[in-house]
Amino acid sequence: MKNCWCGSGLPYSECHEPIEVKLAHLRAQGERVPDKSLIKNKAQIEGIRLAGKINSMVLDRVEQEIHVGMTTQEIDDIVDAYTRELGGIPAPLNYEGFPKSVCTSVNNVICHGFPSDKVVLKEGDIVNVDCTTIVNGYFGDASRMFCMGKVKPNAEKLVRVTKEAVEIAVSNLKPYCHLGDIGYYVNQHAKKNGFSVVRDIGGHGCGLAMHEEPYVCHIGQLGKGLLLVPGMVFTIEPMINEGSGRFMVDGGDCWQVYTTDGKLSAQVEHMVLITEEGYEILSA
Ligand code: MF3
Ligand code: CO
Ligand code: CO
Repeated sequence: MKNCWCGSGLPYSECHEPIEVKLAHLRAQGERVPDKSLIKNKAQIEGIRLAGKINSMVLDRVEQEIHVGMTTQEIDDIVDAYTRELGGIPAPLNYEGFPKSVCTSVNNVICHGFPSDKVVLKEGDIVNVDCTTIVNGYFGDASRMFCMGKVKPNAEKLVRVTKEAVEIAVSNLKPYCHLGDIGYYVNQHAKKNGFSVVRDIGGHGCGLAMHEEPYVCHIGQLGKGLLLVPGMVFTIEPMINEGSGRFMVDGGDCWQVYTTDGKLSAQVEHMVLITEEGYEILSA
């Protein structure tokens, strides 16, 4: 009996064989199917589930401590210390030159904002905190929006609509749905509310590395694109702008991303697993 190529130690017939047989049929029917390397085994799913859980505990801690008057550097300090206390490693630190342990993106910063002792959170700000944690070699990735004190109605609406867009996309996931469905639901909801989705920065497969295939675009067509099958883990993390969906990357640091019109941007990120029955949120 041949053991599975994935290293699970199980016979191939009890591990990846059934799904690979099914995918071969679907491919023959003209579907775009994921590479088998994107289908996680049981042990990997357990490892990723734990990384997702610990990552969420770090975000819970940020949620408890974030307040008007604090600097984004203080958020970085909390994330770095608490992640390590929980036995994890903050994945952003030194990742392709990223200088901090977490991304903090305030107001017109779309994503990848650098925590700084010069950025003081003030009443009315909207802030995205994006944590990625490595635990035993597995990756958890999620982000939340925080409203600082009382925010203007347009900001409140943008944050609410962004959360809703992710919830709608997640709740429509099912095994053998399509990657395009995610972008369809997110973009529909954003457009309906007068907002724009950033097209060229998106979600990603996740779990064994921070960023894996496939690229998850938040603008898409129902029923189009890659098939999403049990065992796949990926993020849904739309960046939704108050104004145009255009963005610019800081030329100096090559990381921080801003709206071109200076208007607000919001983002919410969940990491999800496709199961035989439906889906599981690994960033709950
Ligand atoms: N957490 C981000 C994501 O959702 C990635 C951060 S890039 C880093 O994909 F360099 F800041 F880590
Ligand atoms: Co993230
Ligand atoms: Co991500």
